[in-house]
Amino acid sequence: MTVEAVKPENESYVFQGTINKKAPMVLGGKGIRMTVEKDGKVSEVIDAVTGAAVGALGWGDEEILPIIEEAARNHTYTFPSLIGNKPSEDLAKFYIDHSPEGVFSAALWCCSGSESNENAMKIIRQYQIERGCPEKTKIISRATSYHGFTLGALSISNCFRADMFKDILIDQEKCLKMPPCYPYRFQKKDETEAQYVQRLLDDLEKIIIDNDPKTVSCVVVETLPGSSLGTAPPPKGYLPGLRALCNKYDLIFMLDEVMCGTGRSNPNGKLNCWENFLEPKDAPDIQTVGKTLGSGYVTIAGVLVGPKIRDAYIKGSNSVFGSHTYASHGFNCAVALGVQKKIMRDGLTSNIFKMGNLMGQKLEDALLKEDNIVGDVRGIGGFWSLEFVKDKVTKELFPVELDVGHRYQQVCYDNGLNVMGMQGNADGINGDIALFAPSFVITEADVDEIVSRAVKSVNELTAQLKAEGQW
Ligand SMILES: Cc1ncc(COP(=O)(O)O)c(C=O)c1O
Repeated sequence: MTVEAVKPENESYVFQGTINKKAPMVLGGKGIRMTVEKDGKVSEVIDAVTGAAVGALGWGDEEILPIIEEAARNHTYTFPSLIGNKPSEDLAKFYIDHSPEGVFSAALWCCSGSESNENAMKIIRQYQIERGCPEKTKIISRATSYHGFTLGALSISNCFRADMFKDILIDQEKCLKMPPCYPYRFQKKDETEAQYVQRLLDDLEKIIIDNDPKTVSCVVVETLPGSSLGTAPPPKGYLPGLRALCNKYDLIFMLDEVMCGTGRSNPNGKLNCWENFLEPKDAPDIQTVGKTLGSGYVTIAGVLVGPKIRDAYIKGSNSVFGSHTYASHGFNCAVALGVQKKIMRDGLTSNIFKMGNLMGQKLEDALLKEDNIVGDVRGIGGFWSLEFVKDKVTKELFPVELDVGHRYQQVCYDNGLNVMGMQGNADGINGDIALFAPSFVITEADVDEIVSRAVKSVNELTAQLKAEGQW
């Protein structure tokens, strides 16, 4: 047996990110602020992205301890297919009751957004078998999309994260891709919004027809894409158009709301992002959620199943094939339910919708018309992004090696602001954005502080790039 030598202080034992060096370490947090140690220096930063759009409640919430304590006191683990638990039932009922009536009728709880999408893909597959349509195997998702890092979820994604694994993904003839919905970059100059939407819908219909509609199973999109092309709200008519095509060709309509859902961008003080764009009659047949559900205090995500799917199962085998050890985990569900009840009681989803839109407006006012690298400010409710371009008129991208999105993240950090820089929005590889997804508790003063630091950082990075002859 070999015993590994103790690593030097800054070496990491954790196999993630940069392997041989410790990542910046969080030391604590309170509300929208957190304390982070980086390269030996401790600083307080405003968390404007709450990890990866996770922290709905804000950090160190005073009421979370009693919620966790009660959940732990009442928790006895059971394997969910054999013996169920009350919190998973209660959380499912809560989500169903706080969604438009009749849209969802059951939920499955799991531990990550990727896992929820894996499960949704399998639930849809079993649905097609249960109702006697086993030939329906093909899934249509979008180019430049992200649905998670497991192999199934990567197979329906289309971005730089999937590229390295392409040889071991699900056969891409079964995972078809339609064009992204991304007006800033792809709506033509001489095209109206309605014409652009129609072009996208025509493209989808052609894919369905060319691939034999009888073999197509479902269409899946992120309601408001986040870590793919950056919070581009779907234009009017786009999501209803997808729903109509799903109805026409007998396909399941699935929405991925892992990042944008569960209160982050709901206009009615409730949960679902699609309520901005769809009438309840056009709601998805199945939907995945995660992130803000447990607000970072527990690892929980889920699949919401509509009556069409649930009823087909009941008429068929009346059982769900397969399960995970930690599905419907009672402790996780109890904490998530406590978090969600508090969010509803305090009107926090209404607050983030209002304050988030204010933040977006202020970013737009301060950045769009000025001479800097910001080409677009887009989003809705508590989920926004900046898109960086070399030229505001031509929308020319920065060279990928400059890594402008991540550089912006670093400049923001140095200015006491945590945001998420990303690359690949334009085509899966090129393009630079920064994401903003603050906690639901932000006040107007917090909005001003976030905007002021974000604008300062844009100006500093613009000046740096100018000095380097890159802008
Ligand atoms: C739309 C979407 N779906 C799924 C996932 C995967 O979630 P997780 O990282 O919890 O597995 C993400 C993660 O960012 C996401 O943005």
